[in-house]
Amino acid sequence: MEVQTLTPHLGAKVQGIDLSKSLTDDQFSELKALIVRYGVLVFPGQKLSQDDHKRFAAMFGDLHVHPMHHTRPDIDPHILTVKTDKNSAYTAGNGWHTDVTCDERPPAFSALYMKEVPECGGGDTLFANMYLAYELLSDAMKDFLGGLTATHDGGLPYVGAYKSTPPEGGYPVSKHPVIAKHPESGKPVLYVNSGFTARIDGLNPLESRSILDMLYRFIESTPRLTARVVWEPGMLTLWDNRCTQHHAIWDYYPHSRYGERVSVVAEHRPEAFVSGG
Ligand code: SIN
Repeated sequence: MEVQTLTPHLGAKVQGIDLSKSLTDDQFSELKALIVRYGVLVFPGQKLSQDDHKRFAAMFGDLHVHPMHHTRPDIDPHILTVKTDKNSAYTAGNGWHTDVTCDERPPAFSALYMKEVPECGGGDTLFANMYLAYELLSDAMKDFLGGLTATHDGGLPYVGAYKSTPPEGGYPVSKHPVIAKHPESGKPVLYVNSGFTARIDGLNPLESRSILDMLYRFIESTPRLTARVVWEPGMLTLWDNRCTQHHAIWDYYPHSRYGERVSVVAEHRPEAFVSGG
């Protein structure tokens, strides 16, 4: 495998591996080490059937079923289509977020396979490094946020932005630590995102809104946190949701973009980072 970093701290392009074939244990261990190290891996030039895509993702964990799939019993529950064209009211993921953090055990990894890119160019995806986001906070802010939890609510994007009909009982709502410990690296990450985080628990509404807005503004206004994936048809990008956020840029209206995403569920729910622990 040839590995070329996208930025010094986030993302790598991996060539010389055919993901349509079953991977050997050594290949898988190498890829696992790479994704934990770089957070985002880009594999250009792949030719994958839906079964290949799911087999590859399943090496990283149990396949995730997206909460919005309750309305679509007619489709494969493990494949989330990411489709935008001139009739789309929104583009999924067109804002900084981490996938499905409303779930009690959110996806650890997502693998998006791009089949069609806009003919006018654009449609890139930005990723941001949440280890670095944590590191760049002041010590006082790290101390303040450490030990807090936040509520992540699926209703925010799925009803609020996408206007979908919730299942009986509503979309999932979960509490997660604001500063989480990455289960594999053991390092702290900032774990709130503008897609799903509704409030920081224990603060009054104005305090919670102000702190969340400050953190989101910090992510949006700090380009050094990011790496940019410029898609080609046949490219698969694998990302670690436990230490990254991403933003799909909708800059190509009225053109079309089409991909399919398979995600895998984290083994455990996110754990708080305890400084010195
Ligand atoms: C997503 O998984 O949020 C979609 C990402 C993309 O379309 O680039």
